[in-house]
Amino acid sequence: MKNVAVAGAQWGDEGKGKVVDILAEKFDYVIRYQGGHNAGHSVVFGGKRYALHVLPSGIFHADTVNIVGNGVVVDPFALLKEIEGMEAKGVPVTPARLKISDRAHIILPYHGIIDRWRESGSGKRQIGTTGRGIGPAYEWKASRRGVRFCDAYDMNHFRQRVEFEYTAIREIYGAMDELTEWPLSRVLEESCAAVTRLMPHVIDSVYELAEARTAGKRMLFEGAQATLLDVDFGTYPYVTSSNSCLLGITAGAGVPPGAVQRSIGICKAYTTRVGKGPFPTELHGDIGTKLRDAGHEYGTTTGRPRRCGWLDLVALKYVQHLNDFSTLAIMKLDVMDSLPEVKLCVGYQVDGEMITRFPAALDVLDRVEPVYKTFPGWQTPLHEVRRYDALPTEAKNYLAAVESFIGCPVGLVSVGPDREQTIFRHADLFT
Ligand code: IMP
Repeated sequence: MKNVAVAGAQWGDEGKGKVVDILAEKFDYVIRYQGGHNAGHSVVFGGKRYALHVLPSGIFHADTVNIVGNGVVVDPFALLKEIEGMEAKGVPVTPARLKISDRAHIILPYHGIIDRWRESGSGKRQIGTTGRGIGPAYEWKASRRGVRFCDAYDMNHFRQRVEFEYTAIREIYGAMDELTEWPLSRVLEESCAAVTRLMPHVIDSVYELAEARTAGKRMLFEGAQATLLDVDFGTYPYVTSSNSCLLGITAGAGVPPGAVQRSIGICKAYTTRVGKGPFPTELHGDIGTKLRDAGHEYGTTTGRPRRCGWLDLVALKYVQHLNDFSTLAIMKLDVMDSLPEVKLCVGYQVDGEMITRFPAALDVLDRVEPVYKTFPGWQTPLHEVRRYDALPTEAKNYLAAVESFIGCPVGLVSVGPDREQTIFRHADLFT
């Protein structure tokens, strides 16, 4: 039995949720290792839609243990709301099914306030964040001022830690309007109450996962966001604040590098991005609008329209160097059904030169002109296709070009939102 990791290969929203949902029941553990409630995906089954933000996707399976790893930043208010929403729909979220690492950092109200303040107003540095306090929470962690769940084993200690941080923040950011709505008394009262309710879920996940590995339990590591939003390897500073590619697993879940044997890179048949930052293959005209409409490209967490463009193989190859995915899952191929021609970006033209490397420097990335290879479209609805062989030749040629450029097999193709609308090409990579 192999442990599997799933991560986004672009700028997020690739459809990780669908793949993880299909796989989750085969695993004893599903583990989130980074991010927070900036992530979001919906899972539809039995006629009900469930929105997941922090809860790992194994939460629907009675025998799966779900771990929120130490690398996740947890907003206790948001997590409680998510748990309540699940329970109202009949999904029990007991301490046996949801466990939170006691080393995970807590997002406190002032983190969200600082995030939103930085993003608002003219002249402010705008990243286009989700405004959920993710960046400030990771900042506090890195500057060794964060508050963790283990601090709440002793509630007096927790109160002191929050009070100390609050006082320091007040001195620097005292003028922020939203902060005045959150005096220390309110922060303490509401945060203590929320964290206390979560404490039955809190464990030392290092030991839990070490014992599980010794017992041969199967683990699925579920990434949030995606590689090009990774704080080290993404389009910095237009990134999230965690290691959202597979390299984040060991530090964010507390397992050694050898804990993962197989990995799946989730990639749309085209590209989308929310928030600001470079996007070389972005389409501003009709085709971009068509992709947005056909693909329902609006954020699950914030409802923002997503920017849309062609699939960028230069970026994807860079992403493959970092993750070494065992297989790619190509999602939403059906969204391109009506296009008379489809394009793949196979190089960048910059300063009179053709490059095939994804540049680190943003000013270079801003200047690159994509070089495309054009393919005839298939112009046939793919929703009903269930076998790879049954795909139109044009679609197979398009996927073959992706495989050969990236050097990674396309093991799964998604042709619609339902579980059944999935073509397993290399089924062995998904067992
Ligand atoms: P933050 O993670 O809220 O700090 O936002 C930083 C950047 O990451 C912004 O461009 C967000 O739009 C983007 N981002 C964060 N979470 C997601 C996600 O789950 N999908 C897509 N983009 C995301």
